[in-house]
Amino acid sequence: MKAIAYSEYGPPEVLHIREMEKPSPKDGEILIRVHATSVNFGDITARNFGNISSSQFNMPGFLLFPARLSFGLRKPKRQVLGSELSGVVEAVGKDVKKFKPGAEIFALLGMEMGAYAEYLCLPENKVIALKPSNLSHAEAAALPYGGAMAIGLLRKANIQPGQKVLIIGASGSIGAVALQLAKYYGAEVTAVCSTPGMDYVRTLGADHVIDYTREDFTQNGRQYDLIFDVLGRSSFNRCKSSLTPKGRLVYVSFKMKQLLQMGWTALSRGRKVICAMTVENTADLEQVRSLAETGKLKVILDQTFPPEQAAAAHRLVENGGRKGSVVITF
Ligand SMILES: NC(=O)c1ccc[n+]([C@@H]2O[C@H](COP(=O)([O-])OP(=O)(O)OC[C@H]3O[C@@H](n4cnc5c(N)ncnc54)[C@H](OP(=O)(O)O)[C@@H]3O)[C@@H](O)[C@H]2O)c1
Repeated sequence: MKAIAYSEYGPPEVLHIREMEKPSPKDGEILIRVHATSVNFGDITARNFGNISSSQFNMPGFLLFPARLSFGLRKPKRQVLGSELSGVVEAVGKDVKKFKPGAEIFALLGMEMGAYAEYLCLPENKVIALKPSNLSHAEAAALPYGGAMAIGLLRKANIQPGQKVLIIGASGSIGAVALQLAKYYGAEVTAVCSTPGMDYVRTLGADHVIDYTREDFTQNGRQYDLIFDVLGRSSFNRCKSSLTPKGRLVYVSFKMKQLLQMGWTALSRGRKVICAMTVENTADLEQVRSLAETGKLKVILDQTFPPEQAAAAHRLVENGGRKGSVVITF
């Protein structure tokens, strides 16, 4: 079978096509014929992990070394990227109960990766659900990560109808779903992204759009009940005047400083910092399917690429300014 592999950290060009043995399902596993997989933040980060500095690492610095050990210090341990997929169950191992051959599924693999391949075996109890029936494989492959993360993270934000919500990073995987969910929960949503993504976030339902390359939202005099910052690049001190008196600044990515701010703002009755974490789970993925099937979540594709052009797909995501999801189809 064909896979997109890499054996050293580096730029998109380290990705290459490799012939690998087709796996066969063990007891409790399903064999998936992968139709599509996305290119997302995790793939770009993992591809270049050996070269990531502590300031580029979007988590507390003390986690960088354990993360390096887990990814592989000098060379990547897991040589096939891909944290989400859409495909068809081709065969099942002994004792598999949830899925039958022929079932169309989508799945979230997280940092275990491996979806950049024509076939993949997964234990049936991993984060796998039936694919939304109204979406193509290419569309469905772009939803599990952003969808499940946004659902889990927004749960911590406790959005209420009528609230004013600002989403920083609204054109990315998590932000695009968070925007649509916030609208679904009845909020008035302002999306922040760069110039190329402005029409994209409007199509997803944003009421207002701010281009961060031209406007600093902290200077426009508007206030929000919730600021949802995906990459964690904002500062609480600068955001204070943009938060309503009981407003919350939710960091999806955070360092020690934000964790400490969460600690001391927890004691206050006023504005709060929340460093939100979520864990991949099947219930959230099933909710993603149901929201997609009822038209509450849509997927807009920027571009799809064949496996041979995986490097171009990575470059498109890495350069920023996406106008939709970027997907590799097998
Ligand atoms: N807390 C958790 O449980 C959890 C779980 C998963 C992931 N994460 C974190 O989530 C982050 C990745 O999110 P993602 O996959 O949605 O990323 P993504 O797809 O790469 O999207 C990033 C977004 O941020 C925007 N952006 C880039 N630079 C910006 C700036 N200076 N100011 C404002 N916006 C900017 C981008 O817009 P343009 O492209 O237009 O520049 C894009 O909309 C990572 O840091 C990861 O560690 C956290």
